[in-house]
Order: sequence, then structure tokens, then C-alpha cells
Amino acid sequence: MKFSSTLIPLSLVFIVVSSASLCASASPQKYQNFLQCLSEHSSKSYPISKVVYTPINSSYSSVLDFSIRNLLFSKPETPKPLLIITPSHVSHIQAAVICSKSHGLQIRTRSGGHDFEGLSYVAYRPFIVVDLINLRSVKVEVENNTAWVESGATLGELYYRIGEKSRTLAFPAGVCPTVGIGGHFSGGGYGLMLRKFGLAADNVIDAYLVDANGKVLDKESMGEDLFWAIRGGGGGSFGIVVAWKIKLVPVPETVTICSTDRNLEEDAIKLIHRWQYVGNKLDENIYLGIILTGGNASTQAGITNPTARFFSLFLGRADELVTTLSTIFPELGLIKQDCVEASWVESTLIIPIGVQPIETLEPLLNRTLTTLDSTKIKSDYITEPIPVAAIKDIWQRLKTQDIETSQLVFVPYGGRMSQISESETPFSHRARYLFKIGYVVGWKDQSLKAKKRHISWLREVYEYMAPFVSKSPRAAYTNYRDLDIGSNNKYGKTSYKRASVWGLKYFGNNFDRLVYVKTKVDPYDFFRHEQSIPTL
Ligand SMILES: Cc1cc2nc3c(=O)[nH]c(=O)nc-3n(C[C@H](O)[C@H](O)[C@H](O)COP(=O)(O)OP(=O)(O)OC[C@H]3O[C@@H](n4cnc5c(N)ncnc54)[C@H](O)[C@@H]3O)c2cc1C
Ligand SMILES: *[C@@H]1O[C@H](CO)[C@@H](O)[C@H](O)[C@H]1NC(C)=O
Ligand SMILES: *[C@@H]1O[C@H](CO)[C@@H](O)[C@H](O)[C@H]1NC(C)=O
Ligand SMILES: *[C@@H]1O[C@H](CO)[C@@H](O)[C@H](O)[C@H]1NC(C)=O
Ligand SMILES: *[C@@H]1O[C@H](CO)[C@@H](O)[C@H](O)[C@H]1NC(C)=O
Repeated sequence: MKFSSTLIPLSLVFIVVSSASLCASASPQKYQNFLQCLSEHSSKSYPISKVVYTPINSSYSSVLDFSIRNLLFSKPETPKPLLIITPSHVSHIQAAVICSKSHGLQIRTRSGGHDFEGLSYVAYRPFIVVDLINLRSVKVEVENNTAWVESGATLGELYYRIGEKSRTLAFPAGVCPTVGIGGHFSGGGYGLMLRKFGLAADNVIDAYLVDANGKVLDKESMGEDLFWAIRGGGGGSFGIVVAWKIKLVPVPETVTICSTDRNLEEDAIKLIHRWQYVGNKLDENIYLGIILTGGNASTQAGITNPTARFFSLFLGRADELVTTLSTIFPELGLIKQDCVEASWVESTLIIPIGVQPIETLEPLLNRTLTTLDSTKIKSDYITEPIPVAAIKDIWQRLKTQDIETSQLVFVPYGGRMSQISESETPFSHRARYLFKIGYVVGWKDQSLKAKKRHISWLREVYEYMAPFVSKSPRAAYTNYRDLDIGSNNKYGKTSYKRASVWGLKYFGNNFDRLVYVKTKVDPYDFFRHEQSIPTL
């Protein structure tokens, strides 16, 4: 911001001072100017004071912690926001932008809180959190095959509301029901229907956004460039998206979910290798992916890891899938007993819990993760099949017993993903890739030693994989946020050169257009974080 020191409002001085002591002794008076600004700039019919939590409010910690999805960023030493606003009306978001700007504060926007680096609620300069948890309505319009969904809703809430209205409409977004709409759509968002319908962002047809001036814009008033940028250019760079209009997609009344596990090393390695030639070429109604699990946490069946789970969603009946796979991929030996049939909305719940019949869809509305661990993620894109010897080495690494949980998730591309051009949306990873790999570690042990061990393991696997994955740049998925691949200056202005290191990995040739749009719509870089798009 462009304040000379004499112009800094007094309230800011207080706020900065109190942040240095983590707000332990903050008194209400210190926030008075800021709070007054908030009420002046928001609707009188929806008093903003009802949705503002300062650190002395007894609910402050529970509101902050409720949407933290990674234990790494839930420590006493983790920087905390000066206050949290949970808007219940769009004017609260506008006021938050206008007043944060005039008081020299940063905003971190949080929808579902799944950011793998905690960027939606952790910052190293005085900041507030705008937590959209109260803005989560979903309006499904079956007549038009569309829906309006607010950013604070979760994928589970969206799926549940679609399922309430129709058995034959669906939406192609992610697999974990607790993931937030706001961050997920902003970074692309993929799920098990990507080969048929592309990404969540590919199916967004309108949006409401509050920009850096506190103005509310829709598709028309934001213009082509900005509407392009918010559909995959990553959250937290262009404004706060309040709601999205989406195109629902047609699915059959009955879909099929199958899962089969392999533990025998030789068998698993052969199948994984073969899958690379099959997964991306299957009919686009078939998703067949692999999850490799390692570490010392034993599997449900009590079998020691590594395990290779071949996992499928088919938009059709089980008989047809089993027949198709028995000709194209007979080595897998998939049988009908490995599968269940269900409605699409049921499948969204069956997938995270494993293949078993379900009694109620209510768990889709539950925002609490089953287990909260420390986690770290990385991603890669693959252009040529990985040789058998390398798959063997990966399998060996997954045997490591001093890691709690490790996973490599192989996501097949092809189908619709190959038909959309690289510049259609900021998400450039399309026809050139056979599949994507997500690498994840998760652990409960809160010691520093455990943290170092797990993160080192992940980094070593990533380094090992370099010869087998995409190069110059080594592509990565922005929603699998990883600050190891480069980050902006935490404290000051970031050069284009510095940001392009991570920017080209996430967005390829679209990075330059993102920088151009950012410079146009937010020239003073108000919406900023460690991997936000820089201005020129
Ligand atoms: C358990 C788990 C499962 C996952 N599964 C999948 C999956 O199946 N498919 C997939 O594609 N990804 C998946 N992801 C990654 C997920 O898509 C991203 O982490 C996504 O950004 C999360 O969105 P959120 O709203 O929950 O996160 P948040 O942490 O709230 O936000 C993420 C980023 O977006 C910004 N942001 C949030 N809301 C807004 C808004 N309204 N306007 C502008 N910016 C905003 C934040 O400031 C932050 O920078 C998964 C992540 C986890 C932890
Ligand atoms: C905490 O903040 C909420 C929301 O602004 C408010 O309704 C409540 O009265 C506050 N509680 C305390 C103890 O200050
Ligand atoms: C469907 O679209 C039409 C035309 O755009 C609109 O008038 C109508 O209100 C929409 N229906 C619903 C249920 O929103
Ligand atoms: C929501 O899920 C959590 C974690 O699985 C569980 O502990 C809790 O009981 C669930 N809440 C409801 C209302 O079902
Ligand atoms: C797995 O290893 C961790 C150390 O990383 C240890 O704390 C944990 O008890 C082990 N779990 C099992 C089931 O052996």
C-alpha cells in the first residue's frame, strides 16, 4: 500500500502493535476505528458487528480452528488474524475490502480451508480472515440445468442439494465432500468425471465477485479477462468470489463404483505399468485411477502396505464396465463383486468411505474431516509411461515404516481433458498429459522430528521422479499448493521473475495473461499471498 508513515491511521499503529503480541492483550478500543469503518461501509439491515470476532471474543479460536484442515498450521506459534469476519451479506465483504485497504491490512479469504499451505488463514503481515462459512446457499434450477452456489458451501453440500432435486443431474468437481467451493473452483477443481466433463471451472458460466475496490461484479461487468482468470487462476489473487453459476451435467440414473486392491509386489507393478497405456484411452464414461498407499498405518483388511487400489467410477451399469474392462484391461481381472451400483449423488459419498452401500446422504453435509492430520502434498504431470524399474523403486519407497501414511494418486487424463485448449481457462494441463500424480504424506506425531521425516520423504520421492515427469517447466497443480516450488516475497513486492518460477509450473503459457489481468484489476496488489499472481 502507498501510505507514507505520517498518513498511517492511528488505529493501524495499534493493530500492528497488538499483532506483535499475538493479540493476547488486545482491548476492544484498539479495534474501534476499524470496526467503525466496517459498520459505515456495510448494510444497516445486516449489522456487521454480529459477524466480527476479535481475539478477545470467546468464539474467536473455535471459529478460526473450525475450518483448519492441516494440523501443521494450527499451532500456538502460527500467526493469527487480527480479526475474523464471517459475512452473512455481500456488503460485509465489500466493507472488509474497503476498510482493510484503508487500514493497511491484508485479507485472507477462506471458503473450505483446505489450502495445503494454509494460505487462507495464515499470513506474515497484519491480516484479517474473511471466512465465507455463512455464505453457503445452493440454488439448483433443474429446469435450466444450472445452479447458483455460494463460495462457502462445500462440495458435499452442493452434491446433496443436486441429489435432492434430481437423480440424473450432477457436477464434475472433487472427491472430498468437505472441500470448499471457493478455493476449489478458483484453482480448477477435478473429480472422477473429468474425462467426460472436464474441471469444475470448465463448467462455471457466471460469478459474483467483490474486487479490490469493494465493487460487486458479475460476468458481464467484470469483463472477459477477469472472468477467464477466476476460472482456474488460483484463489486469493483477483478478488473474493461470492457465488458461482454452474452448468449441471447429465448422468444416468445408475452409476457404478468399483475398487480392487493389489498387495503382491510383482502383480501390482505389472498392473500399474500397464495402466499407463490404458487409463487415458478408455471411453470417457470410465474413470479408472490408482491410489498407492504406503507407510506403517495398516490397511482396513489388516494387510501391510504398500497397496495399489484400482478405483473406478463408470457412468453406466456394472455389467457393462466389467465386460469392457475384461477386453481392454483383462490383466486387472475386475469382477462384478468389486463394484456397487448407486445413484450419482450416492457415489459421491461411497467414494470417500470405500465401496459399501450407504444408508443416508446426511454425511455429505458434515464439514468435519474424519481425521485431522499434518499433511504435505506435491504434484506432477506425466507425458510418457514411467518405466517398470522406476515403479519398482516407488514401491520400495512406499514400504518405509517410519512414515505414517504416504499416498501416490494417479489420475488419468484424456477424454474431455484433451479436447479443451490450453488457453481456454488458466488451467493449461490438457492434451499433452497422460495422467497426473498427487503425492501426499499425512502424520499425527506432532514432534518436529516427525514433521522433518515426513516432509523429507516426500521431497526425496519428488526428486527421484524428476526424470520421469514433465520438464521445463515441471508442471504442477495449483490446488495442490506447494511452496517448495517457489513463492512470492512474504513481506514486500514480488518480481515477475521470482513469481514466474512457480507461475509457469501451475499455469504454463497462461501465466502471462494472468499477470496482465492482475495488473489491470488489482494494480496495487491488494489480494496477495505467497503464490498470488503478481502485478507487472
Ligand atoms: C482432503 C482434501 C481433498 C482434496 N480433494 C481434491 C479433489 O478431489 N480434487 C481437487 O481438484 N482438489 C482437491 N483438493 C484440493 C482443493 O481443491 C484445494 O485445496 C482448494 O483450494 C480448496 O478450496 P477451499 O475453499 O476448501 O480452500 P481455502 O483454503 O478456503 O482456499 C484456498 C485458496 O483459495 C482462496 N479462496 C478461498 N475462497 C475464495 C473465494 N471465495 N474467492 C477467492 N479466493 C478464495 C484462499 O484464499 C486460498 O488461497 C483436496 C484438498 C484436501 C485437503
Ligand atoms: C463474539 O462475536 C459474536 C459475533 O460478532 C458476537 O455475537 C458475540 O456477542 C461475541 N461474544 C463475545 C463474548 O464477545
Ligand atoms: C431458467 O431460465 C430462464 C431464462 O433464462 C429464466 O427466466 C428462468 O427464471 C430460469 N428458471 C429458473 C428456475 O431459474
Ligand atoms: C461429522 O463427522 C465427524 C467426523 O467424522 C463426526 O465426529 C461427527 O459426529 C459428525 N457429525 C454429525 C452431525 O454427524
Ligand atoms: C508408525 O510410525 C510412527 C512414527 O513415524 C509411530 O509414531 C507410530 O506409532 C507407528 N504406527 C504403527 C501402527 O506402527
